[in-house]
Amino acid sequence: MARYSDDVLNEVRNSVDLVELASAYVRLKRSGRSYMGCCPFHKEKTPSFHIDADKQLYHCFGCGAGGSVFQFVMAAEGLDFPDAVKFVAERGGVRLPELGDDSEEIYRRKREMYAMNKAAARYFRDCLFSPEGEAARAYLQRRQLTSRTVASFGLGYAPGSWDGLLRHLEGKGFPKDMMAETGLCIRNEKGHMYDRFRDRVMFPIFDVRQNIIGFGGRIMEGDGAKYMNSPESIIYDKGKNLFALNIARKSKRGYYVLVEGYMDVISLHQAGIDCAVAGCGTALTEAQARLIAKGGTVYLCYDMDEAGQKALARASSIFNGLDAKLKVISIPDGKDADEFIKKYGGAKFEELLDGSSSVAENDVNRLLEKYDTSDVSQTVELLNEAAPMLASIGNAIEREAYIKKLSASTGISVQAITAEVNKAGRREGRRQMREQVIKSVSQSRPSRSPTAKSRRESAEAKLLGILTEDREVYDKIRDNLTPELFSEGLNRDIFTEIQECYKDGEPSAEQYLLSRFERREEELAAVIIKSDNPDNGLAAAEDYINVIRNEDLKERIAEAEKNGDTVLLAQLIKNKHRKAGT
Ligand code: CTP
Ligand code: MN
Repeated sequence: MARYSDDVLNEVRNSVDLVELASAYVRLKRSGRSYMGCCPFHKEKTPSFHIDADKQLYHCFGCGAGGSVFQFVMAAEGLDFPDAVKFVAERGGVRLPELGDDSEEIYRRKREMYAMNKAAARYFRDCLFSPEGEAARAYLQRRQLTSRTVASFGLGYAPGSWDGLLRHLEGKGFPKDMMAETGLCIRNEKGHMYDRFRDRVMFPIFDVRQNIIGFGGRIMEGDGAKYMNSPESIIYDKGKNLFALNIARKSKRGYYVLVEGYMDVISLHQAGIDCAVAGCGTALTEAQARLIAKGGTVYLCYDMDEAGQKALARASSIFNGLDAKLKVISIPDGKDADEFIKKYGGAKFEELLDGSSSVAENDVNRLLEKYDTSDVSQTVELLNEAAPMLASIGNAIEREAYIKKLSASTGISVQAITAEVNKAGRREGRRQMREQVIKSVSQSRPSRSPTAKSRRESAEAKLLGILTEDREVYDKIRDNLTPELFSEGLNRDIFTEIQECYKDGEPSAEQYLLSRFERREEELAAVIIKSDNPDNGLAAAEDYINVIRNEDLKERIAEAEKNGDTVLLAQLIKNKHRKAGT
């Protein structure tokens, strides 16, 4: 795969300000040249997310996330590296060169596929308003969609013929291979091609950049799958897109409503709830959850049936690790959002939003509905099912409130329920601990939390931070600096790159490091972002050098002791006293 050159990446990186860009995702407080806030990538109450405005790097001392604006966009928008570069380039108004070989080909191919999908959507729309679209128009009317809604979602109709779209696209010069690749047409074993969507109402699916990446097609009557969907392709990743996110992104409501179906979304939008989104006919993924988490509230609105509640439980566990406040909307009488709005109107749906419950509350209510509390064995089952669920509630007050509620409804004492909940909690705690251990063993990467960092590591990091931004300090103390001063590996590598950079007379090494450590920006940020900004860089740098030397000496003394090397030990201790004397 071809890659953008360092020059291009630097230009794109410099075209935006990380602080400004990140402000859209996290509330930042300024302190000196650094900005702090609650990390948008993990749940926390005290801010450990730092941005260094000079270095244009961020780092979270809580979860270890960090890097340049590219990593930020990757994490915040759920994009891969090339898409993050494109995203930033669009923001910064940088025209990206087309990539050489392979990638340029893909890039062009994608653009042509977007163009083809757009042509297909136009065709479907024209068919909807042609005589053959009469039944489809009547269907949409039955479903009470206004012509404005039909237009704003770009709805259409795929006629019943086997090759209407195929011939239309062929006439526009689109290659047949591409029709097969996007799944608009299907090629059978004999090589014969025909339209995938026939006699269906068509829902185009947009990405956030307003490209049509796929379609859903609903049958109007008769047998067959209710919905048919475009397959995945190089432009359509179902796990990374949400239906109507292109519109919901612009909503002023400041939260999202996640529903199950295309029609639910459309009805909600028609009723003014323009922040509704849905999956693309597949189960929710973490990447999709990330797209709408971002520190705000997400209302989960799933069907009340068994399948819907299972999907809800899955969704809530996906959101668990993300920064979002979750609310659950239960629609009465087993209706979906669309049916509810058709029957009671949008204002009543707003009331459901106001009356939404927490995930735990919803779970408890469901259990009370599911089991008959006048039956002893059912009560036992209920409480067994409730225990691990209650144990997972982080907030002790909330947990106790539900224990009390269950106690009142089942007649089992609070003490007995609490005992079971605690047991389940310990089981869960042990499970998590095991997972943690497995994780830390398999991830040979050292812990990057500041408390776990040794004195030496942290002094090295702070020294590297100063050297990176301040060439003057470097010049003044460079005789005291050798690569060996720094721990082998990343820190030493960073230092040698700084040396290299300053040979060329650069005033600071930030840019240089960023391009030298491309795709290792996360590691780089973890080292050279300082949590403090000393006024006197020179004095601070000298202090850090002393700390490093001292720690180094201590390490060597310990080593000599361990090896029983008394001669070396005596020498080292003498050194130590000499140092202490100065
Ligand atoms: N779905 C699908 N394929 C199916 C059935 C459903 O892809 N055969 C997906 C669609 O994205 C659909 C969603 O699952 O929007 C929810 O399905 P369902 O609740 O059955 O449909 P509704 O959205 O309620 O559609 P309608 O109101 O038109 O029945
Ligand atoms: Mn429905």
